[in-house]
Amino acid sequence: MGAYRDTYERSLSDPDWFWRDAAAGVDWERMPMRVLDRDRPPFYRWFPDAELNTCHNALDRHVAAGRGEDTALIYDSPVTGTLRTYTFRELRDEVAVCAGALRRLGVDQGDRVVIYMAMVPEAIITMLACARLGAVHSVVFGGFGPKELAARIDDARPKVVVATSCGIEGSRVVAYKPLLDAALAEAAHRPAHCVILQRGQAPGELGPGDLTWDDALAGAPEAACVPVAATDPLYILYTSGTTGRPKGIVRDNGGHAVALAWSMANVYATGPGDVFWAASDVGWVVGHSYIVYGPLLVGATTVLYEGKPVGTPDAGAFFRVVEQHGVTALFTAPTAIRAIRKEDPAGTLIRKYDTATLRTLFLAGERLDPQTYEWAGQILGVPVVDHWWQTETGWPVAANLRGLEPMPTRPGSPSVPVPGFDVRILQPDGTPAPPDVDGAIVIALPLPPGCLPTLWQDDERFVASYLSAFTGTYPDGVYLTGDGGRFDADGYLYVMGRTDDVINVAGHRLSTGSMEEVLAAHPAVAECAVIGVDDDLKGQVPRGLVVLKAGVDTTHDVLERELVALVRQRIGAVASLRRVQVVPALPKTRSGKILRKTMRGIAGGDDPAVPSTIEDASVLDALRPILRSP
Ligand code: COA
Ligand code: AMP
Repeated sequence: MGAYRDTYERSLSDPDWFWRDAAAGVDWERMPMRVLDRDRPPFYRWFPDAELNTCHNALDRHVAAGRGEDTALIYDSPVTGTLRTYTFRELRDEVAVCAGALRRLGVDQGDRVVIYMAMVPEAIITMLACARLGAVHSVVFGGFGPKELAARIDDARPKVVVATSCGIEGSRVVAYKPLLDAALAEAAHRPAHCVILQRGQAPGELGPGDLTWDDALAGAPEAACVPVAATDPLYILYTSGTTGRPKGIVRDNGGHAVALAWSMANVYATGPGDVFWAASDVGWVVGHSYIVYGPLLVGATTVLYEGKPVGTPDAGAFFRVVEQHGVTALFTAPTAIRAIRKEDPAGTLIRKYDTATLRTLFLAGERLDPQTYEWAGQILGVPVVDHWWQTETGWPVAANLRGLEPMPTRPGSPSVPVPGFDVRILQPDGTPAPPDVDGAIVIALPLPPGCLPTLWQDDERFVASYLSAFTGTYPDGVYLTGDGGRFDADGYLYVMGRTDDVINVAGHRLSTGSMEEVLAAHPAVAECAVIGVDDDLKGQVPRGLVVLKAGVDTTHDVLERELVALVRQRIGAVASLRRVQVVPALPKTRSGKILRKTMRGIAGGDDPAVPSTIEDASVLDALRPILRSP
């Protein structure tokens, strides 16, 4: 581990030197004189006196360097039968017009724009147009329904919402416009305009203040890049926490550009001439960092794929894309590989394609089970690189650094901490866990560039959610990741799963608290809990447990159908709640806290120790067979 070890140690012992060096990978309007501003801990800021524009770095800079005719973006949409490519010059031109259109609608530096779109190039164009203006985008994943969208609109308070009229899920068309209308009816905040990209499959009905994408852009002047402070926000991306209220993760401009450019070279070994494909969705952090910003910042080609890994047309779909576009690195979630393996266990459909260009398969978003790791490696014959990170961090915290120093991969481990991240495992009493002993995974502050500087307009919640555990253990404090795990004796990290009530369903991060809010609002429900249970395909799926109000007269089947439909309608299909069981009571501590973790353990087939604080152990005994039922 020579190059890695040296780089890692230098990144922690002299972060100013390390990140000043990395900052050379970015074009600055005003060069950074200071690297890390430690004046107001725990609110650390990177490159506090510098200015840049992220869109300039993603597009204009490459055009100016003579790469205008190289391919920036390949849009491949088997569900609509569309294939479209954009050179850096074409993409820059479209983004400049979109930015001009947004400005004409009143969007200025610092204003927010909510983007609720399917996987179409216009989603990327709008994101980059916001970056061009110094406006702040907030993309909401299309699988979320009105309740989640309304919460984000109320928190971000956008001037404009840009949406597609619909999304296409396999053979199903999902109308987004009615969901947007329902969200706006529920939200307190009113955006000045909604811009709707009308898709032929289901055009939306326009209301007052709505205009079509074409009308919004018609005759709009091109807008130039606006230099912004490196510390100004580039975007807000809401993510699930333990309560129903999503957290607005803020990303700055300067640290983000520096960190992502560094990661493209050192983690993903990707640069100009490479074709990088993150098969995720622009609504998730993977999409932000590695469909949009990362590849474009380093002048690589990025692929935007609208479709599923299976069924469009079959489980070979991903590998047709690899062959056709010469993909050099594919990044997806383990669940996608499990879905492919289920349909094509012998890899027959995959082997129809020539995947010789593919150098690496990167997987993240949930725990990579050893069977999936082994299978993918055998079928593809390339390294399968697990890596671990979160919306909050914006880029990998632990990885096998393919560009810096490739190492042997190990099943069950995303390898080693990435330079810049001082990863520690702490036991409940705050002492460091020895090798092979589980504990809470924390990162000693300050976090490196690219990580969240705070939550959107909520410094207090930022500190309370992430920085208030294990105080006093390290001089500057620690960031609590919410994951548990351990190091082995060689310094490989093993991430075992969340220690809180966040669940990961098909690589999608969801809040059980948000689902509980919906279940609790049903008139028949006295109290409820939602827990994540293991699932062969999706890794985890939510299961609801409800206690009925006294005297309620309903059959379980009817109630289950109603509750499942309610969650789908309010939170969105992505919640994937299919099972709700009626139980006589929920196990609680004497102070009234529901024992979700204990129930999760039982449902997963473990026999967890019953906490001594339990109010009534017989409640848990009665639940055991229900929790264990398939
Ligand atoms: N818009 C509208 N609906 C959406 C949606 C979107 N953008 N994304 C998902 N949904 C819907 C799905 O159609 C599905 O609806 P259904 O219940 O009617 O079938 C529901 O939300 C659940 O979606 P999902 O959990 O993704 O299940 P799936 O069966 O559609 O697909 C996989 C399963 C494994 C194929 C798919 O989740 C996948 O490819 N995941 C890996 C890649 C990924 O996106 N990872 C994220 C971070 S890296
Ligand atoms: P998100 O913020 O949606 O990216 O989800 C982040 C969470 O996904 C992490 O906190 C982990 O719980 C989980 N996760 C992401 N990558 C991995 C991985 N490689 N191994 C295990 N869990 C992961």
